[in-house]
Amino acid sequence: MIGKKIILASALIGVLAFGGEQFAMSDADRAMYAEMLENNPADIMIESGNELLEEYCGGDAGLAKFLGVSEDELPAYIAGFPRYIDKLGMVVGLDQVLQALMAQNGHKPFALKSSEMFDMSAYAKSIANEEKINIDVNANEQMKAAYALGEEVFTTKRGGRGLSCMSCHSPDVVGSVLRTQPLPDLGSEANKAGATWPAYRMTKSSLRTLQRRFQGCMNNALLAVIPLGSPEMVALEVYVTEKAKDREIAIPGLKR
Ligand code: HEC
Repeated sequence: MIGKKIILASALIGVLAFGGEQFAMSDADRAMYAEMLENNPADIMIESGNELLEEYCGGDAGLAKFLGVSEDELPAYIAGFPRYIDKLGMVVGLDQVLQALMAQNGHKPFALKSSEMFDMSAYAKSIANEEKINIDVNANEQMKAAYALGEEVFTTKRGGRGLSCMSCHSPDVVGSVLRTQPLPDLGSEANKAGATWPAYRMTKSSLRTLQRRFQGCMNNALLAVIPLGSPEMVALEVYVTEKAKDREIAIPGLKR
């Protein structure tokens, strides 16, 4: 165990040199964080996402209809994403459902990486606020396969430094500190990434999705960046969301 940590530590030393983005929270940052918790700057983006959903997707009712559930069932249903959606023939994130719904309504879908899509998908997920994450990775063959692929992507070492997501986010190393930044346990109550993204990222001053956050780590750790919405990326979202199972959804999250 100790040997393993030393090997990891030396693998990480090179990484520590990247970018100026990793810094601990100063007292001033901490005060700002406390203030933002009271009044999340992303609340206004969620509101704009609500308006976009009305305009392009027929609002909550349009989304429920597209998903084949009643409006009452919608929150719990949303708490189970990513899901295998029969009419799309694949496991998809909520953002891809919104794209399909926009297309069905005769609109050009927002790009997955657009701020409009971040706002709209954040609003859509917030419909499930206070529900518990109820993703079922054994629901069908497609979900089983997505979970297995997600685990593979999470644990496979890649890039010049030979790091995987697991190198920094495994139970062995969480609680350790990387250049003064604690390594988060993605499934913990304190972090519960699957239940708190989309989130407002203070260091980026913007609302980001979980998949976009994955890309941030890929960039920092010099892993080739996987495109949003690709089977590997959705699989990674399935795998990470499973870790937050039964944790309460609270959108928009607020992150450093
Ligand atoms: C070199 C170490 C390292 C690697 C490799 C790494 N991460 Fe991270 N990750 C971190 C650190 C450090 C943070 C916290 C940064 C902060 O607080 O801003 C973080 C934060 C995150 C978060 C946000 C957690 C939250 O809710 O605040 C997610 C999600 C995440 N990583 C997923 C991944 C995935 C998926 C991979 C693999 C593609 C990965 N990480 C690879 C170090 C790493």
